[in-house]
Amino acid sequence: MSKVSIIGAGMTGASTAVWLAGREIADLVLVDIVEGVPQGKSLDLLEALPILGKDVDVVGSNGYEATAGSDIVVITAGFPRKPGMSRDDLLRTNYDVIRAVVEAVVKYSPNAILIMVTNPLDAMAQAALKLSGFSRNRVLGMAGVLDSARMSTFVAMELGVSVENVHSFVLGGHGDDMVPLPRYSTVAGIPLPDLLPPEKIAAIVERTRKGGAEIVNLLKTGSAYYAPSAAVVEMVEAILKDKKKILPCSVYLDGEYGIKGLFVGVPVKLGARGVEQILEIRLTPEEKAALEKSAASVRELVQVLGL
Ligand code: APR
Repeated sequence: MSKVSIIGAGMTGASTAVWLAGREIADLVLVDIVEGVPQGKSLDLLEALPILGKDVDVVGSNGYEATAGSDIVVITAGFPRKPGMSRDDLLRTNYDVIRAVVEAVVKYSPNAILIMVTNPLDAMAQAALKLSGFSRNRVLGMAGVLDSARMSTFVAMELGVSVENVHSFVLGGHGDDMVPLPRYSTVAGIPLPDLLPPEKIAAIVERTRKGGAEIVNLLKTGSAYYAPSAAVVEMVEAILKDKKKILPCSVYLDGEYGIKGLFVGVPVKLGARGVEQILEIRLTPEEKAALEKSAASVRELVQVLGL
């Protein structure tokens, strides 16, 4: 059985464990700094498995020994933005968390593939790449699958069709200037612009961009976790099953899309070796400009950290 460790047993980490256990594709280890929490959540989940009929191991710990030899490590550890905290404060706080976590992860699982979830996502993924010293195919960030799923939800709602018919396409950094691409988004193979008027598409694009904030405004005390964790699971499954699945992920670009030395969300092929290929699709000048604007926002954060 493969082994997946999840660092940060908060809402997103624990939800990832629940979805993954249901798939029965890996033994799981949950790690958190809060004493008792990873142990308690692991035992609780383990006790659900006889009901679900799934045989996987689930271990909770405050240390990293149990994570040794993981195939994939999902990193959700970090802090949400608190009142009075600037974006840069959050950036530095979570960078310190990621630094400690990545150091420990690499020590015990030198061959793992890292999936970053902690925000600000693209900058934290870039930090993880640098701190781990891993090759770029083994460090990726979860954003595009989530953002695309949000867009698909809104498209399915608007058209009253099955979510299974909808394929959405979102590029760029995981921020307000992400780049949803209606031209490449389809419903049963039909491009979105053939099905909806421009103003409806514009509204869907806008709601997708603000999808994270919409949930925060409703929850008030936290951010989204069901859809983010489901997105992680799709990526984990693609890797563990060597599916060669094309998914939008945040990866380190080295000249692709004219962007060099930066994590940005683009379509990639996921398989046993992690990121096996970066797909370059043709963009209109407007789409390219939007992608560059989004990349510039990521670069600002990365520069604050001196990465
Ligand atoms: N090592 C391990 N765990 C840590 C560390 C650390 N150094 N620092 C914090 N944590 C843990 C916290 O104790 C907490 O349990 O990370 C967990 C984060 O969980 P939540 O606060 O519930 O946050 P969550 O909603 O899961 O989001 C986690 O993912 O989607 C992003 O923006 C989100 O950056 C945030 C991250």
